[in-house]
Amino acid sequence: MGEKVLILGSGSREHSFAREMNKSPNVDKVWCGPGNAGTAQLEKGENVKLDLDQFGQIIKFVHDKNITLTVVGPEQPLVDGIADTYEMGASMKHIFGPNKSAALLEGSKKFAKETMTEFGIPTAAYESFDNPEEAKDYLKDLYDSGLEAVVKADGLAAGKGVIVLNNLEHGYQTIDLIMVNKKFGSAGDLIVVEEKLIGEEASVIALCDGKTIKQLVSTQDHKPAFDGDKGPNTGGMGAYGPAPVILGMEEQIYKTILAPLVEGLNSIGITYKGIIYAGLIKTADGIKVLEFNVRGGDPEMPPITMLTDFDWYEACMACATGKLDEVEIKHKDGAACCVVMASEGYPNEYDRGKLITGLESVTDPNTFVFHAGTKLDEAGNLVTSGGRVLGVTHYGKDIAEAQKGAYDAVEKIKFVDKETGKKSQYFRTDIAAKAINR
Ligand code: AMP
Ligand code: GLY
Repeated sequence: MGEKVLILGSGSREHSFAREMNKSPNVDKVWCGPGNAGTAQLEKGENVKLDLDQFGQIIKFVHDKNITLTVVGPEQPLVDGIADTYEMGASMKHIFGPNKSAALLEGSKKFAKETMTEFGIPTAAYESFDNPEEAKDYLKDLYDSGLEAVVKADGLAAGKGVIVLNNLEHGYQTIDLIMVNKKFGSAGDLIVVEEKLIGEEASVIALCDGKTIKQLVSTQDHKPAFDGDKGPNTGGMGAYGPAPVILGMEEQIYKTILAPLVEGLNSIGITYKGIIYAGLIKTADGIKVLEFNVRGGDPEMPPITMLTDFDWYEACMACATGKLDEVEIKHKDGAACCVVMASEGYPNEYDRGKLITGLESVTDPNTFVFHAGTKLDEAGNLVTSGGRVLGVTHYGKDIAEAQKGAYDAVEKIKFVDKETGKKSQYFRTDIAAKAINR
C-alpha cells in the first residue's frame, strides 16, 4: 500500500499501464507524464507535464514525489538510456524497461539481426551496409535469385523505417532515399537489407527480469491504414488476442526465441529487464522473428491488459528487481479486441481539436475505452489531439464476441467539428476478421 508510480508516455499503451496500476492495492498514486485525458480521469491518476528527453527533470520529479516505480511506455527514452540514469542513481527508485545496451535490440536493426544470428534465433537472411552501392549489389543478388526484399533504416524512425519493396527499382530508390537523401536522418546511415518473408504475423510480448521470462497472451496488430491490410503503415489500427495463428506454440517460441535471446544477451554482459516484444511471422519454414521491440505494443496493450489477471505493480517491480519467478502471471479465459478510432487523414495530415462525443453511452462493463490522442480543451471538453485517438476495447468469451462488443461501442462514438458539426472519426472495419474467418 502507499506506493507511487510514474508512467511515461501518452498513448493507449500508457493508459493500459496506468489503469492496471490504478487497480493495484499496492499503489495509491499514478502519475502520468505527459499522459492523456484518460489517464487523468483515473481515480488515482494525475498528469504531469514532463519531457521524455529531459531525464534530469524526470528524476527530480521522481525524487520530489517519492515515486518507487517508473514504467516507460515508448522506445525513445529507453534507447536513449533512461534506465541507466536510474541504475546510476543507486537509490530505491526502480524503472520498468531495459537499459541502453539492451534497448539496442530496437534501437539498431543491425544489432538485432546480429544478435539473432549469433544466438541461433530464426530470422530472415540479411546483410547490413553503410554504402548505398554495396547495398544495391546485394539487393540485385537477392532479386536475381528469385527472392524479394525489405529495406530497414538501422536506427529509430518513428515506426516508418521499414520499407517492404515492390520490386528491384523501388529498392534502388528506397536505398537512395534513406542513405543519400537522409529521409530518416542519421537513423539511415546504416541499413539492413533482408529477405522478404511471407506468412501471417503475430506478436508475443513477454516480461523479463534478466533471468526469468513470462509470456503474456499473444496478439495480432493491424498496421496498414485501410481494410484488407491495404494502404500506408500506421502505428497500428487495432489488435486482438489471443492470436490463433500461433496458439499452442508458446513453448516453441520460448525455447527457440525468448530463452536464446535472454541467455545470449546475458552471455555478452547484457541483462534484459522489462518487456520483450517479438514481432513474429509464421512462414512455410516455421516461425521467424521480424523484429524485436523493447516496450509494450500500442495498440496491443489494451487487449493484453484486458486479458491479464495479476497485479501489474508487483509484476513490473519484480522485473526491475530480479524476482519475476515469484510472481504468478495469470490470464482470464476469453478474448479481447481493440479497435483504434483515429482522426480522419491519419497517418497523413489530420485535424485536431474535434469534440469526442458518445462516450457516456458506452456502458457495457466488458468494454473499456482507452485514450491515446485526447485532451481537455480550455472549456473542459474532451477533444482529439493526435492521430490515434481512442482504443475501444471489449472483453468477450471468444474473438467474435470481443469484436462485436468493440464495434458496438465504436458506433456510438463520434469526433465532431465544433463549428460545422462534421464527423471525422476513422477506423478499420475488419479488426480481428482474420481470426474469425480462418
Ligand atoms: P515495425 O518495424 O515493427 O514497424 O514492422 C514493420 C513491418 O514490416 C512488420 O510488421 C512486417 O509487416 C514488415 N516486415 C519487416 N520485416 C519483414 C520481412 N523480412 N519480410 C516481410 N515483411 C517484413
Ligand atoms: N503496434 C506496433 C508497435 O507497438 O510497435
